[in-house]
Amino acid sequence: MKKLDGLKKINTAVFISGKGSNLKNLIKFSLLKNSKFNVNLVISNNYKAKGLIYAKNFNIKRKIINYNNIKKAENKILLLLKKNKIKLVCLAGYMKILSKNFIKKFKGKIVNIHPSLLPKYKGLYTHQRAIDNKEKYSGCTVHFVNSKLDSGKIILQKKVKIKKKENSKNLAKRVLKQEHLLYPEALTKIYSSF
Ligand code: GRF
Repeated sequence: MKKLDGLKKINTAVFISGKGSNLKNLIKFSLLKNSKFNVNLVISNNYKAKGLIYAKNFNIKRKIINYNNIKKAENKILLLLKKNKIKLVCLAGYMKILSKNFIKKFKGKIVNIHPSLLPKYKGLYTHQRAIDNKEKYSGCTVHFVNSKLDSGKIILQKKVKIKKKENSKNLAKRVLKQEHLLYPEALTKIYSSF
């Protein structure tokens, strides 16, 4: 953790697998004046992840992890986290499930953003499932990661009203906009626990 003008900055790693709009948003948030977070490292299990381009453009260290062997992959990540003095891991569209062992080693320091109003609709295809079930609302949740999928303590949520006859693509787009507001708010909320 760096101290800048009395402000403690939290070294953060963002894990991605795909397009990385949340990563881009978190980088921008970290660059705001008086920001309390540094994005020091980007981890991807997928070398084709479009989000890697943001890490490159903002000159942030990026590592692509080969997942052929999960244990080796996670050990490599843990080493990178240690080397880079990472205190917080933000999952942002990371399509790999972290093992119990990994989560234990980084207990209380891993957060995730999920596109539903948890505890409803854990897992994939959240918006389609919400539409199929004729829900009035979808939304997004930032939560701590524990060993059960999408089940850790909720930090913050935002609701999004589902429009009449809305398709999941449109809904996902509108929820994503809210995700970009929610993730920084949630990190600000937990800052004092570091
Ligand atoms: C987001 O909808 C996030 O909630 C989910 O995966 C998506 C990632 O989008 N976990 P992006 O890669 O950040 O654009």
